[in-house]
Amino acid sequence: MDMVDEYVDASSMQHRDAQDVLEEFSYELSKMRGRCIDIGCGPGDITEEMLRMLPHDAKVVGADISQTMVNYARQKHSDEKRLSYVVLDIETSELPSDQVEQYDNAVSFYCLHWCNDLWRAFQNTYKLLRPNGKALVMFLGYHFGFKAYLQLKQNPRYQPYLQDACRYVPYFQRFKCKDARASLRKMLEDIGFDVLHCSKREKSFKYSKQSLKNHMVAVNPFIPRMPDEIKNEFIDMLLREVIANGDTVMSKNASISLEDEQSEHIVLRYYLLIAYVQKPQLIS
Ligand SMILES: C[S@@+](CC[C@H](N)C(=O)[O-])C[C@H]1O[C@@H](n2cnc3c(N)ncnc32)[C@H](O)[C@@H]1O
Repeated sequence: MDMVDEYVDASSMQHRDAQDVLEEFSYELSKMRGRCIDIGCGPGDITEEMLRMLPHDAKVVGADISQTMVNYARQKHSDEKRLSYVVLDIETSELPSDQVEQYDNAVSFYCLHWCNDLWRAFQNTYKLLRPNGKALVMFLGYHFGFKAYLQLKQNPRYQPYLQDACRYVPYFQRFKCKDARASLRKMLEDIGFDVLHCSKREKSFKYSKQSLKNHMVAVNPFIPRMPDEIKNEFIDMLLREVIANGDTVMSKNASISLEDEQSEHIVLRYYLLIAYVQKPQLIS
């Protein structure tokens, strides 16, 4: 995910949901001493917001697979003493040795559904933590919008660019898990974590057509691969499919004179998975 300016301008949903989790877990965050890694930190705004909730001597390292995101975060949300950034793929087959067991805490907001191999991402999170270290993660379990990727993959015009569309569907949605919360809990326990909290939250977000379009472009992995002449029509097709999968609501406030397009709101429904886990103390 490299479209940093687009993401900063069109991530109200992610921002709202991350803030909800920060608020809900504010007590736990206030106890996070030592070094904390923010996995999939993106542009770093949430990372910096979270830093302010940690004890004064805590340090945060924002980590992201995207060099562009890390460069932006370093420029806009840095703090010489307490906040730094590193390029890191949480799905890597081998973590850099200088990262292993270097963190007392980990957080991750809206990143882990990007991972094709969620098991490996959690295994690496486990490895990053010191014994007794805790991790707070929030990511998409299911989003109606992703159905559109699979639908458009059937269209021969876009098929060449969407070959791997399935891999971008959130893990538990891809495998049509009946009880994603229970499956997540089991995965975390099998990796070795003690599960302190694991929940599934039904959510929705209301968009205008334009804000939905901006949001979809910002998080779309396929558009950068397409020739320019296809991009715009693909975005329009995607918007159409996503709207068809969502609830479309007409604005009821007739006293405000808005353009037709603006008075039509699209409500997208999704659910989040939230877990708070601990790596056990090693028994010698
Ligand atoms: C939707 S953004 C979320 C950013 C930020 N955490 C927030 O809440 O606004 C997801 C971020 O995860 C990053 N990401 C995706 N796959 C990753 C991976 N395997 N390892 C590390 N970061 C990854 C993307 O580059 C992107 O910056």
